[in-house]
Amino acid sequence: MKGNISKIGLFEKIASLAKRRGFIYPGSEIYGGLGGFYDWGHLGVKLKWNIESSWWREMVQLRDDVVGIDAALIMNPKVWEASGHVSGFSDPLVECKKCHHRFKDDQIEDNKCPDCGGALTESRQFNMMFKTFVGPAEDSASVAYLRPETAGGIFVNFKNVLSTNRLKIPFGVAQMGKAFRNEINPRDFVFRTREFKQMELEYFVKPGEDEKYFDEWVERRFAWYKSIGLKNVRKREQAKEERAHYSKATTDIEYEFPFGWQEIEGIANRGDFDLSAHTKASGQDLSYVDEETKERFVPYVIEPSAGVERIALALLCEAYYEEKDRVVLKFNPKMAPIKVAVFPLLANKPELVKLARKIYEELRREYTVAWDARGNIGKRYYSQDEIGTPFCITVDFDSLEKDDVTVRERDTTKQERVKIKELKEYLKERLG
Ligand code: GAP
Repeated sequence: MKGNISKIGLFEKIASLAKRRGFIYPGSEIYGGLGGFYDWGHLGVKLKWNIESSWWREMVQLRDDVVGIDAALIMNPKVWEASGHVSGFSDPLVECKKCHHRFKDDQIEDNKCPDCGGALTESRQFNMMFKTFVGPAEDSASVAYLRPETAGGIFVNFKNVLSTNRLKIPFGVAQMGKAFRNEINPRDFVFRTREFKQMELEYFVKPGEDEKYFDEWVERRFAWYKSIGLKNVRKREQAKEERAHYSKATTDIEYEFPFGWQEIEGIANRGDFDLSAHTKASGQDLSYVDEETKERFVPYVIEPSAGVERIALALLCEAYYEEKDRVVLKFNPKMAPIKVAVFPLLANKPELVKLARKIYEELRREYTVAWDARGNIGKRYYSQDEIGTPFCITVDFDSLEKDDVTVRERDTTKQERVKIKELKEYLKERLG
């Protein structure tokens, strides 16, 4: 239960908590901000890091058939010409003739401006690639683009990866990194931004086996979302007209945000679109030879592609609860930015502070641990609940006598005494 809050009110509260507690700040705020750009604070960094490391562990570390890559953000512009992004990565845009606000076609009802009701221009295609210049000259020969997806860096390194790793089809190349899109209408806090981080896998398979692997990846990715604590997720197959220019089939994984069901990941069957296009444009052979059968073919590729910020936002929405006198983020402990908080019951009793500090120093070797000695214990619990810390440990006068502490669990608020020497084991069982 989220309590009796309207969905929009709920989203505003979540966004306000995220800003107030230092998960997410508006980008360049002291200069009035910049639409579609955000900065991530200490807790936000940890949350994103937990998402990224869980993804990397599942997609790379635990698999024999996937290797990683970290390609440059700016690549030869021919990459994006070959991939079809320079000519085709666009959204239909309309402009209000009165207030000059711009909208994507699909945001318009009754052919009127949603902001002022004014008449709209004819729709035209707007390319979302961010342009820049490489080197001192600002002419057409030095134009380059910030990558709109990380995938390009994987396709152009296909030969390098094959020649430097012992890989046999099927195999994958994974990458996490920033992508940039000059979105017409950034919206819904960090849901649609102009700078975001993607986690992408390009999984190369033999043509004919693509549908089987596509189905497998959809199921595997869906299970991962459940494993990080997202319950309100569903799969949705994209209709032909919705798909990207390179896609034979796409299934989205959607999360039910307070503003509706929205994509957090797309799994696409890109066929041989990219390797064939880059072969043609670069003149380099990007085919694969099966060592056993000597068969040569251009692999097909299955691509699970997720956005870190959207997942972080979904985790915040899923975790947010209002209960009696507290606000609590019930993160899956794996995703919680801070795992444990340690408090001395009283800040002005050096013997309590000393023991609490010792426990804090020990635990922070293994977990992200918070220290708090301000105010009363109730306020400290409130503060930790609001950022989703699963366990709070209090050192009191009994601790000095009995070598134990009070451990309070976030969701149940139940408290129990635990021996100091058993704390690590206790937390390990519950936090993993
Ligand atoms: N390489 C495939 C690709 O880029 P996409 O569906 O355009 O596919 C994949 O993007 C994921 O990247 C999305 O599911 C979403 O999580 C994230 N994403 C895309 N555009 C975004 C934006 N403007 N703001 C935040 N995240 C975005």
